[in-house]
This record gives sequence, C-alpha cells and structure tokens, in this order.
Amino acid sequence: MKDKKELRIALIGSGLMARTHTNAYKRIGDFFPELTHRPVLKVVCARTPDKVRDFADQWGYESVETDWKAVVSRDDVDAVDICAPNNIHAEIAIAAAKAGKMVLCEKPLARTVAEAQPMVDAVTQAGVANTVWYNYRRVPAVTLAKLLVDSGKLGKIFHYRANFLQDWTINPELPQGGDALWRLDAEAAGSGVTGDLLAHCIDTAMWINGGIKDVSAVTETFIKERVHTSTGKVQKVGIDDACIFHCHFNNGSLGVFEATRYARGHKALNTLEINGEHASLRWNLHDMNYLEMYDHNDDAQVRGWRSILITDSDQPYMKRWWIPGTSIGYEHTFIHHAADFFESLKTGEPCHPTFKDALETQKVCEAVLASAASKSWKDTGVTADTF
Ligand SMILES: NC(=O)c1ccc[n+]([C@@H]2O[C@H](COP(=O)([O-])OP(=O)(O)OC[C@H]3O[C@@H](n4cnc5c(N)ncnc54)[C@H](O)[C@@H]3O)[C@@H](O)[C@H]2O)c1
Repeated sequence: MKDKKELRIALIGSGLMARTHTNAYKRIGDFFPELTHRPVLKVVCARTPDKVRDFADQWGYESVETDWKAVVSRDDVDAVDICAPNNIHAEIAIAAAKAGKMVLCEKPLARTVAEAQPMVDAVTQAGVANTVWYNYRRVPAVTLAKLLVDSGKLGKIFHYRANFLQDWTINPELPQGGDALWRLDAEAAGSGVTGDLLAHCIDTAMWINGGIKDVSAVTETFIKERVHTSTGKVQKVGIDDACIFHCHFNNGSLGVFEATRYARGHKALNTLEINGEHASLRWNLHDMNYLEMYDHNDDAQVRGWRSILITDSDQPYMKRWWIPGTSIGYEHTFIHHAADFFESLKTGEPCHPTFKDALETQKVCEAVLASAASKSWKDTGVTADTF
C-alpha cells in the first residue's frame, strides 16, 4: 500500500452517487491490489455545510467545501469526481480540466450536445484522464454479453431491445426540484427518462452492438404540472415521463428501447435482449448475476434457453470476489469502474466510456427527443462503432 502513488480525490455531491463512488474508492485497494495508485479521499463538496460535514465524517473525507470552484483550484487535488445534478456537470468538468485535474463524471455527460461538446474539448485539450460512470457495462453478466457478441457467437445481429422501467413518479403530489427530485425539473436534469434511464441503455447498446444511426421516438409527460420545490408554486413539467424509440444500428440491426417511471411494480427493470443469427442473449438488473442464452448450435434435444449464473472466476471480474456460486451486487459495478479507471492510469489507455464516447450517447438522446418533438425520424450523427 505504501509504495502506491496517491490519487487525491475531490468528490462533488453527497447524495446517492457520492455514496456508490466513495464505497468504490474504499474497496479497490483491497480487491485490486495490483493497482499502482491509491485513492485518497481528500475533499467532498456539497452546498449545505452540516450535510457535507456529516458525509465527510461518515465516509472518511479529510476536508469539506461548499463551493465547487474552491475545489477545482486546490493544489492538493488530482481528480474531480462529479456526482452532482446534470445542469452543473459541464461547468465543473471544464473548470477541472482547465486546472489540469482528471475528471470522472456521472452520466449523462450533460443536458445537451451543445453542453457536452466543450467538455470533450476541455479534457482533450488538457490531456487529462476522463471517464463517465455508465456503470452497467461493468455488471459481469453484461460484460460477458459483450465478449460473446465480439467473439462472433451470435453471428449477425438482427435485434437489440432494451427497457428501463420504474414506478416512483406516479404520485402527482411529488414536487419537482430539490435533492433527488431535481430529476423531475427539466432545467436541472435536461430531460426526463431519456437522459436519466435510456442514456444507460444506449451506452450499453452501442458498446455491445455499435453505433445507432437514426431514431424514431415518442415521449409522454403524464403529469403536466407539479409544485416546484424552490418556488413553492405549481409549474409546468418539462421532462419526458416516458419514452419509446426504435432505431437502426450502423450494422443493419433494429433496436427497440423503452423507459418510463410509470410502470407500476417495476423499480429499476433495466433489461437487454440481443437476437443474432446463431444465438440470443438476455439480461435484467433485477436478476443481475444471470445471463440467459439460447444457442441454436446446441444439440436439438436439449436446445433451449439456459440461465448462466455468473460467479465463476473465469467470468468477467469474478476472480476478484468470493467463491463460485456466491453473488455480487449493484455496488460492485462502481467498484469495477473505479478499478478500471485506476488501471488505465497504469496502462495509459483510456477508461471507456470516455467523455468522447459519452458525447455519442448524448447525440442519440438528443435525436430521440428531437424525433419525438417533430414526430419524424432523425439521424443521430453517430458514426463511431466502438465506444
Ligand atoms: N450511474 C448511475 O447509475 C446513476 C444513478 C443515479 C444518478 N446518477 C447520476 O449521478 C448524478 C447525481 O445523482 P444523485 O442520484 O447522486 O443525486 P442526489 O440528488 O442524490 O445528489 C446530488 C448531490 O449534488 C449536490 N449538489 C447539488 N448542487 C450542487 C452544487 N452546486 N455544488 C455542489 N454540490 C451540489 C447535492 O447537495 C447532492 O448532495 C446525476 O448526474 C445523475 O444522473 C447516475
């Protein structure tokens, strides 16, 4: 431990993601002992002094700040990790990159492509390491799906379908704005389920199946007005509560995506299914340690969907953990991502998804919203196929 180089982290935010990331920083040294850098929890920043002090005490940060501008100018910080609402990602990331700090940013990269592009430019010009926390890539079963597709096991891909279903905003009394509820405020979030939930599905889909070429979408806002926490007044709701789109991938396959916060009974049903010429795969977050596969090349008498428990040491990431048959959880996706970021500091290779990769996801989100607004197909402008 003492031979490792320190990587002094500044965390912006003290909410849900602040906890998952801090937990990851605290765990990687134990489970990825070969890493050359050691995270130091240098400073956490959030606006409310009491809350941020409590967070620092509970999670072990050395100091606190209430203004992120003070954080990015500190000499004792190497990396800025943005766990704040979407409307301030761009400003913080650009300032941090200009100050020569590495930048880790929560998803979506920003609210719009116009906001995200200068973020990519800033990290590129500064030459600083960067990554965006699209963590579902690092569920071992999802990583295995990617490896199987890359190996050619599925053959030509025909269909990709994904859902992200929740039910937590059905209550019309729920206000918009404030902690966690900033997601219902278009000004803070940029969009509703498209940027919050579909962005995850799009990132995973393009990572596994290549770029999305064009989209046709429909969105709905079921509850049109809500009280705004900051004004106390009833205000128009500007986010999409639900979004469904279909698309062409650059490889000729068809995609169908749906996200909503109005699917009663579903809490975070993030799913994917891929149908290829020789085989199909499917996965869902509620049963995240299983990957299901149908292989047409199996012997006809026993051919059928099989459910593969992903806990063996020869399956992605699992040699880091316990023994075959014992499972891992949501928090491990962030631990894997943090470990891969630290590994990238050793190898000098980018830690995907980078800001540049996440900009492509932003382009798809924007095309989806533009398609829904205009009731027409939209090109995404995504030409890349590796992310
Ligand atoms: N990767 C994932 O699966 C995942 C899951 C949830 C959220 N997110 C993303 O993470 C980010 C944060 O979401 P969350 O769920 O942690 O939100 P949250 O509401 O739980 O926490 C947000 C934090 O940001 C702080 N904050 C707000 N404005 C600030 C400012 N000006 N300066 C400093 N701190 C400020 C708040 O005080 C709060 O501590 C969002 O971009 C969101 O989209 C990603």
